[in-house]
Amino acid sequence: MSRAPSDLELRLARAGQEHLLRFWDELEEAQRAELCAELQAMDFEELSIFFQKATEGVRQFSQLEKVDARMEPIPREVLGSATRDQDQLQAWESEGLFQISQNKVAVLLLAGGQGTRLGVSYPKGMYDVGLPSHKTLFQIQAERILKLQQLAEKYHGNKCTIPWYIMTSGRTVESTEESFTRHKYFGLKKENVIFFQQGMLPAMSFDGKIILEEKNKVSMAPDGNGGLYRALAAQNLVEDMEQRGVESVHVYCVDNILVRVADPRFIGFCIHKGADCGAKVVEKTNPTEPVGVVCRVDGVYRVVEYSEISLATAQRRGPDGRLLFSAGNIANHFFTVRFLRDVVSVYEPQLQHHVAQKKIPFVDPQGRLIKPDKPNGIKMEKFVFDIFQFAKKFVVYEVLREDEFSPLKNADSHSGKDNPTTARHALLSLHHRWVLNAGGHFVDGNGSRLPAIPCSAANGRAETVTADANHNLKDAHDVPIQCEISPLVSYAGEGLESYVAGKEFHAPLIIGENGVCELVKDGV
Ligand code: UD1
Repeated sequence: MSRAPSDLELRLARAGQEHLLRFWDELEEAQRAELCAELQAMDFEELSIFFQKATEGVRQFSQLEKVDARMEPIPREVLGSATRDQDQLQAWESEGLFQISQNKVAVLLLAGGQGTRLGVSYPKGMYDVGLPSHKTLFQIQAERILKLQQLAEKYHGNKCTIPWYIMTSGRTVESTEESFTRHKYFGLKKENVIFFQQGMLPAMSFDGKIILEEKNKVSMAPDGNGGLYRALAAQNLVEDMEQRGVESVHVYCVDNILVRVADPRFIGFCIHKGADCGAKVVEKTNPTEPVGVVCRVDGVYRVVEYSEISLATAQRRGPDGRLLFSAGNIANHFFTVRFLRDVVSVYEPQLQHHVAQKKIPFVDPQGRLIKPDKPNGIKMEKFVFDIFQFAKKFVVYEVLREDEFSPLKNADSHSGKDNPTTARHALLSLHHRWVLNAGGHFVDGNGSRLPAIPCSAANGRAETVTADANHNLKDAHDVPIQCEISPLVSYAGEGLESYVAGKEFHAPLIIGENGVCELVKDGV
């Protein structure tokens, strides 16, 4: 192949992207073939439309005031709460478990992100935050699915399956699939773990030119977690769900160590409300916390991302002193399959890409690799929650942060927040509280009982706080008692009484899947 194929040259010329063949003469034969294959697969006309629409959107809404001025908090009537609606929890949970037992619930994991902030070269789901068991996020999630299948069977007498759809990208596909194979699908059946890949898009300069990151390689990135819908359509996955009889899907992000996959309460709540779309949130208490807020803009539901809201708006408070925009998106969504069917067949093309300005390494016309120190181009991404606007009935379910949300975003060395240490501590503290709630106690080296920490409303159990507990609270949170309970033993704190009630334990306490308490000393 001495010259580039003429049809490709023509397409590039028409699209104004001829520069992509700038280094053709210098390339080896294999490099030429690689570049050719990459470019032949691109639809330049479509890309140009994406670019125009996305950048137009940015120009239109370049002033934050415009979104800010149009934002309204979510109305009370669409809101359910794990704390305020305790009298309903049982009914929601039962409905969710019933749906699961009838094989009507699937989970869908968004795992195509690059994990740039965490700074590891492998997918985030393979990360081990340093729990006593050294389980990875993937393993924890898989075991929660297994446990939930068992619980649904126990309550409704029906052996059932929760299919697990896993979206990867060109960046994460190989290692993710390899990890599942190596770990024998963490005990799940291979046919019920369905991998699929999202699309990738090239990075572009501000004037719409595709960026080369090497002489024979375009700078590509996944097309955002909202690339989900295009991928579902391309790979006929809504049909797959329909064929399996699935009616509800819980979609979630990979990085939350506390995620309640296929949470029966959330699913039951959404179904009881007759919703086709729902979002789980935690109360945002710090205006600068990097979470999106669920709200209404121009009367339609959406998430305004932390990068889109001004500080002044983020700081606004209601008459009760709480943040006005407090519905913090934890990237846990409920969709009916019927709604997803409409999304993939009708609405997906209407979703616009969001634009992120980035510092994108590139090869300059002289062939030198340049790492810019300020943004030189854009990446285009769709967001998973952009379909909220099309829902006929949208609901929001608020849960307690300490029970359900501790995301892994950053490396320990880069931030004191949302890192492996905070994720590990969040899980250990939660499990500690589960043991206390189930009537267990921890003792120190002298056999004195350690003060209990306040428990959340989880399981609807009363709070246990000893009089002298408060001064120890900070320490208890800073370095939690080492207590890990396998998801195969308990999904959300249930069923622990037979292991711990009336017993005293020294940490570390591990309640393992083989049904016995391990590393337990002096149980009484
Ligand atoms: C996300 C939410 C934000 C929320 C926060 C809570 C989106 C767009 N934003 O923000 O509102 O408050 O989580 O933790 O959902 N992913 C893909 N493909 C991609 C890009 C990302 O599958 O192309 C996946 C990632 O693997 C991850 C999830 O989407 O599981 C979230 O991505 P991330 O970039 O971490 O989103 P945040 O900015 O943290």
